[in-house]
Order: sequence, then structure tokens, then C-alpha cells
Amino acid sequence: MKDKREIVIGLLGLGTVGSQVYHALTEKGDALSEKTGFTYRIKRILVRNPDKARQAKPPRELFVTQANEILEDPEIKLVIEVLGGLQPAAAHIEKALEHGKSVVTANKGVMATHGEKLLMLASKHNADLFFEASVAGAIPILRPLQESMATDRILQIVGIVNGTTNFILSQMTHEGKTYEEALKEAQKLGYAEPDPTFDVTGMDAAYKIAILASLAFGHYAKGEEVLHEGIQGISSLDILHAKELGYRIKLIAKAQCEKDGLSLLVAPTLIPPNHPLYNVEGPYNAILVRGERLGDIMFYGQGAGGVPTSTAIVSDVVHAAKNIVLGTSGKSIPKLDNPISLRSPESLLSRFYLRIQVEDRPGTLASIAQVFAEEEASFSAVLQRENTARLTDILFLTHTVREGSLQRALLRVRKLPSVKEISAIFRVES
Ligand code: NAP
Ligand code: HSE
Repeated sequence: MKDKREIVIGLLGLGTVGSQVYHALTEKGDALSEKTGFTYRIKRILVRNPDKARQAKPPRELFVTQANEILEDPEIKLVIEVLGGLQPAAAHIEKALEHGKSVVTANKGVMATHGEKLLMLASKHNADLFFEASVAGAIPILRPLQESMATDRILQIVGIVNGTTNFILSQMTHEGKTYEEALKEAQKLGYAEPDPTFDVTGMDAAYKIAILASLAFGHYAKGEEVLHEGIQGISSLDILHAKELGYRIKLIAKAQCEKDGLSLLVAPTLIPPNHPLYNVEGPYNAILVRGERLGDIMFYGQGAGGVPTSTAIVSDVVHAAKNIVLGTSGKSIPKLDNPISLRSPESLLSRFYLRIQVEDRPGTLASIAQVFAEEEASFSAVLQRENTARLTDILFLTHTVREGSLQRALLRVRKLPSVKEISAIFRVES
């Protein structure tokens, strides 16, 4: 008789993450079986090119290049998707669920774009769709948000959720590396997405904060609804100025639910030394969750890379395996229909760092200050270095201001005759 506790798996993808998942379920499989009580057998692996040299070396006969050999195989009960990209990944997940297979994915793009529909499909077909690895690599955050913190009302989530950009900013801040050098290194170390544009433009972090917000606030938010800025505009000069002012620049993702709606934002932000995210460096991620009664809880760990990510996938595999054996798959689909409106960007409140290049002549600073005062924006610090050149930079830190007021002020400041350019605008976390 077949062992009911053997879980037959189809693996979609064998790249940076897939190779480590393969390793964890095969070479390390015995230890895992002993701990969990199930055995795991990878029956098929989908890749584009079976002849490619890769880290993991499964037997040649496991490779397939047609997804249907996995998706339509009745013996396969669990599919692990680590292909990346929106398509064909989303279509493969859909088909696997329609065939009643549970799915574990690391794909934040798919979950923050098609997640609502896929979760409903999973429920309809009594299958699980788990995605712990899609946010913050090794850090267990999605299950704690849904289970351990279920008794509290979550007010705010603020975090560093992209390892590649945090690594790049750390390298620029502490090692004096250029943006290009640091990005190349992040790619070599397996932190970056198959297309690293998603990391550096803030889109990857936007997908992740959308997933976190969906689970925390019970309202399905899409990645494309998140106002996001990337790190490409951060110069070494701004990193240096931030340092001199006592801050570090980090790519921060933030979701906040208030009476007037939900705000979702990803933006480079100056972090002060007393902030819990100040010392989060390299590929590490950290997520600070504020609950109404729990107060602040911080989750911290490796946010990118094959090994850390594979641990989150394997933890989902174990959960899915248990449900398959008990016949309880598809029973814990999150509720995502809470009607909350999204706040407009103009209504958001923040402090800002501004670097404005001006002609160094009498009245320049006064004229800028005048415009800001008229738009109800005030400064908490102003810094101009002694300098003999005709053009100079003035740095401003504002008090908390409505984004709409700041944008109106900047529109007018740009037109002042002595202002050459607004060279940098970043948020400042209090
Ligand atoms: P990767 O190294 O580029 O690997 C992708 C794998 O999928 C490769 O084996 C590739 O086949 C296969 N593949 C891609 N498109 C395919 C297609 N159309 N048909 C057949 N096979 C296809 O990517 P990765 O870094 O492992 O990332 C995979 C997923 O994990 C992504 O969703 C990513 O967002 C997520 N993730 C990654 C990390 C990380 O640190 N890298 C962390 C968390 C989550 P070939 O090998 O033949 O080219
Ligand atoms: N490229 C992603 C990052 C991988 O750097 O955070 C983890 O999701």
C-alpha cells in the first residue's frame, strides 16, 4: 500500500531559490521527514533549459520543459512555484489549483496582482495557496500576522522588505561603493530578482507591502496601487549629507490604516539613529508591526537569497503537507473583502529632506522660506556650507507637512530666479 504520508511534489523552477528548495527536500529530506512525520518526493522539475549548469544536480529524468507534465499529473499533490515573473507563473498556479493541487509560491508579483482570485480558486478546489516566502525571505511574517496577531487591530506596518536595495544602500553608505558596483554584487549573491528593475524601482517592495497590508487589514491591495519610488535617484552626496545630519537612507515600505483610509507607500527615507530600522543592514529585512494593544513588534532576519528563502518555502510545504494528509486543505483562506478606501498621495503626512541648488546671493534663502511659509510648510533644520562658488546646495529638513502642500511649495520654489534645481526630495521618518 502507498504511504499516505508521502507528499509527491512538482517543482516549477530550479534557479537561485529552486535549487535550495531541492536541496532542503532531498539531501536534507531525511532530517525534515523525521521532524515532520511526512516524506517528500520531488517527481518533476520544470525548467527552460535542462542542460544548463546549475547549483542543484537532480537526476536528468526529473526535468520537464512542459508545465502540463506537472500540472496534469494526478500523483502530484503539491506544486512549488519558484519561476518568477507574472506569466506563465500565474497561469501555472491557476491550473494547479483547478486540478486540486496545493501550491506554495515565493512570487510576490503574482500574489499582489492576481492573489485575490487565486485564493478564491484555492478555496473552491479545497487546495492551499501559501506564500510566506513572497515577503521578507526567511522571516516568518505572514503566518504571525494572520494567526499570532489575529486578536489585535493592526494600525501600521513599516519595514525594510527588499534585500537588494538595502544591500546596495549599505554598500554605498559604509563601503563607499557606487550604485552600479553594489547592484552587480547583489546580483552575484542571488539577492536580486530575475529582472532587478523590480528591486531598484521599488516595485518588489510595493508588491510586498501590498501583501502585508492585505493580510493585516483584510482588504486586498494590489502592488500597482502602492505609491512607490526607487533608489536610483539617491546620490552618494545625499547619503553623505544624511550621515552628517545623523541619518541613514533606507528604502522604507509603509502601510497605515486610519479613519480616513489606507495609505501605502514605498520610498527612500531618512532614518534617525533611535529608530529600530536604523541598524538593519545588507540583505537583512525588518518589519515593525504596530498593534493597538500589542504595541510594536519587530521581525528581523535575512530577506533575500536562496537559502533563507527556501526555509520559508519548506515551512509552507510542511503546513500544506499536513493539510493534505488530514484532508483539511483550502480551509484557511484569508478574508480580504474589508471595504477600505485608499488615501490620495496629496493627503499623506510626512517630514521631508530637500536639497536645493541655488545661486549664492542675498535674499535667496528668504525667498524660499517665504514660499514655504505661505504653503504652511516649516523647516526644522537648514544647512548651507561655507563656499565661494556661484552655485551652492542648501539642505532643508521640514517639520511634518501634507504632501500636497509640499508639492505646491516646490512647484513655486522651482520658479524662483535664484533656484537652479530641486536636486533631491526624500521623506524623513520620525
Ligand atoms: P531564478 O534564479 O531566475 O530562477 C528561475 C527558475 O525558473 C530557473 O530555473 C528557470 O529555468 C525557471 N523558469 C523561469 N521561467 C520559466 C519558464 N517560462 N518556463 C520554464 N522554466 C522557467 O529566480 P530566483 O531568484 O530563484 O527567484 C524565483 C522566485 O522566487 C521569484 O518569484 C522571486 O521573486 C522569488 N524570490 C526570490 C528570492 C531571492 O532572494 N532570489 C527571495 C524571495 C523570493 P532555467 O534555469 O532553465 O533558466
Ligand atoms: N529580490 C528580492 C529582494 C528577493 O532583494 O528582497 C526577496 O524577495
